[in-house]
Amino acid sequence: MAKTKSKTIYECTACGSRFPKWVGRCTECGGWSSVEEFRETPLSPAAERWIPGEEGVGPTPLTSVEVDERERVSSTMEELDRVLGGGVVAGSAVLVGGDPGIGKSTLLLQLLLGLGEEGRSTLYVSGEESAKQLRMRAERLGGASEKIKVLTEIDVERIVSVLESENPAAAVMDSVQTLVSPEIQGAPGTVSQVREVAAQLVGWAKGRGMPLFLVGHVTKDGALAGPRVLEHMVDTVLYFEGDKGHPYRILRAVKNRFGSTNEVGVFEMGAKGLIGVKNPSELFLAERPEGASGSIVSPSLEGSRVILVEIQTLTAPQNYGSPQRTVSGVDRNRVQILAALLDRRLGLALANHDIFVSVAGGMQVNEPAGDLGLVAALISAYTDRPADAKTIFFGEVGLAGEVRGVSRPMDRLKEAKKLGYTRAVLPARQAREVSGVKELAEMELVGVDSIDKLLDSMGG
Ligand code: TYD
Ligand code: MG
Repeated sequence: MAKTKSKTIYECTACGSRFPKWVGRCTECGGWSSVEEFRETPLSPAAERWIPGEEGVGPTPLTSVEVDERERVSSTMEELDRVLGGGVVAGSAVLVGGDPGIGKSTLLLQLLLGLGEEGRSTLYVSGEESAKQLRMRAERLGGASEKIKVLTEIDVERIVSVLESENPAAAVMDSVQTLVSPEIQGAPGTVSQVREVAAQLVGWAKGRGMPLFLVGHVTKDGALAGPRVLEHMVDTVLYFEGDKGHPYRILRAVKNRFGSTNEVGVFEMGAKGLIGVKNPSELFLAERPEGASGSIVSPSLEGSRVILVEIQTLTAPQNYGSPQRTVSGVDRNRVQILAALLDRRLGLALANHDIFVSVAGGMQVNEPAGDLGLVAALISAYTDRPADAKTIFFGEVGLAGEVRGVSRPMDRLKEAKKLGYTRAVLPARQAREVSGVKELAEMELVGVDSIDKLLDSMGG
């Protein structure tokens, strides 16, 4: 194939859209100053073959497709294994994104320390921190290990040659935005550099069956910095989230070729690093205020687990200007809709009230099953009547105010029972379905088919 001449185009680092000339704002995703010059130089041959594409194979009977049962090893961290789909897959590339200071480097250093304890040699490539800083962090995490080799280097070609000679059992690149290939023009972190660097490293890892962990920076709006193609080149994309004011950290898979994408791992950041949290519900409810209005507990589905979360709301009369809706942890639009419903169906004058909503501990409730809890919390805040402290709420609320069934009601009820909750307000249909189930014998089940009946079911 004839070499294509390199030409200058412009690419949005947030969404990957391309433009023939520079624009200050991406017309596709609306991001400001996210469009960067990008010289479309062909990738080096080493990198080229790892850009995903269709291989030249014709149609194959499904039964003759070989199942990719890859070898997995435990990361020695249960919560990380869970998010990865049951362990680290040989030859897989995992991108870990998250805000600065959230704990990405800590997580990956802990991973290598754990592997070291099992006698596996690993490599930690740092383009950001000095070897001394890494040593200090390792000491804090319980002691450095001779099994971990540290390399402070940003030239990807030299990194690959070290990988060749060391042949580690796993490697961490912290971060992919700091690495460069001398073959390609541009500073570290530019679209073409990130693409080239990642392609070379991922290619090497795949060829050798070595698990590779790439740390990725996150832009102001929370997207992974660098070209979208980075997400396509790796097998797994994990986001490390949390509120820096809180010790809880949530590791979420947003893409996973080797497992489910809705698993989350929960950690607590302590003085000696990250500790996996076995019972997240207990953690998130530990500081629940007693007898406070506006606070409701709802069982939320996170992958295969149910986590009980506390939804907190505050409403305050607002007589001038447009009322505020300050929301975190739940969808803002959902709050608007449910507030309008409460106005319409129950006559709560929320249209002239400020509404504040948050989920305690920095958790996110993104499923519709959280609707009923949110509605109950708003009612409780507005009427200034605390709900019964041992009651949980779950159910989807429709636009007619009807309460609809949600997935896995039994698991939600069981988790609540385990933590000492004695009463549940849930969709009427599902309350009928599970009534009489032995395991829930001591639990009072209150079925509601519409939010109109909720006022009488709040308890407390
Ligand atoms: P770090 O892993 O450097 O974050 P990232 O690589 O995502 O930028 O984490 C840094 C933060 O974590 C820092 O604020 C200190 C805190 N921390 C602890 O609280 N305990 C610990 O044991 C360690 C190592 C860090
Ligand atoms: Mg770091």
